[in-house]
Amino acid sequence: MRIDIITIHPQLLESPFQHSILKRSIEKGIVEVNLINLRDYSTQKQKQVDDYAFGGGAGMVMTIEPIANCINDLKSKNNYDEIIYTTPDGETLNQKHCNHFSTLNNIIILCGHYKGVDERVREHFITKEISIGDYVLSGGELAAAVLCDGIIRLIPGVLNDETSALSDSFQDDLLAPPVYSRPAEYNNWKVPEILLSGHSANIDKWRFEKSLERTQQRRPDLFDKYKSGH
Ligand code: ADE
Repeated sequence: MRIDIITIHPQLLESPFQHSILKRSIEKGIVEVNLINLRDYSTQKQKQVDDYAFGGGAGMVMTIEPIANCINDLKSKNNYDEIIYTTPDGETLNQKHCNHFSTLNNIIILCGHYKGVDERVREHFITKEISIGDYVLSGGELAAAVLCDGIIRLIPGVLNDETSALSDSFQDDLLAPPVYSRPAEYNNWKVPEILLSGHSANIDKWRFEKSLERTQQRRPDLFDKYKSGH
């Protein structure tokens, strides 16, 4: 998979791809991530990529020209399945989005800034608008990093034990059950007996019941969705 990220702060996005699972996915050649500096596509002397909003009002707008130059340049070299814009007024990212994006070959992620991009960019270039939650960040870079992490870990071959992504919270509209590790007793706090029994059918049943219980208590909205699908 190829992910091209268009940003005015490429350095801000370096670190997330230099550690742990994302780093390994790149080293294994499963993913290629390119950080593209939008300013390189500005035709202005000062490499400006923003301007005042028509009609007045506070805040700058990311202008269409450098973005169009950049996206058209990328499109002349590759076919893209999605061109994603990170913005607080996009669709709220969920596991289904991540599953879908993880099946694609080439995507562009455009990181928003200031008051956002000129609306014509959204109308004519962007195929998907994604928010990572109902709060406003100072820019779309951290949202792009979250999105990439959510996508990349799902690509086959990235996680060592592939089934571990399938048993994540949200994968089937249920939260994951509690987990325990050694020691079996700490400070007189005991691990549930059943997990030490070695009886895998009973353990699976216990985990499923705990998933249901946890989802019902913490995320009644998800629980209703789960029930309506079963
Ligand atoms: N840019 C600013 N806030 C954001 C959010 N919540 N999600 C995605 N991009 C953003």
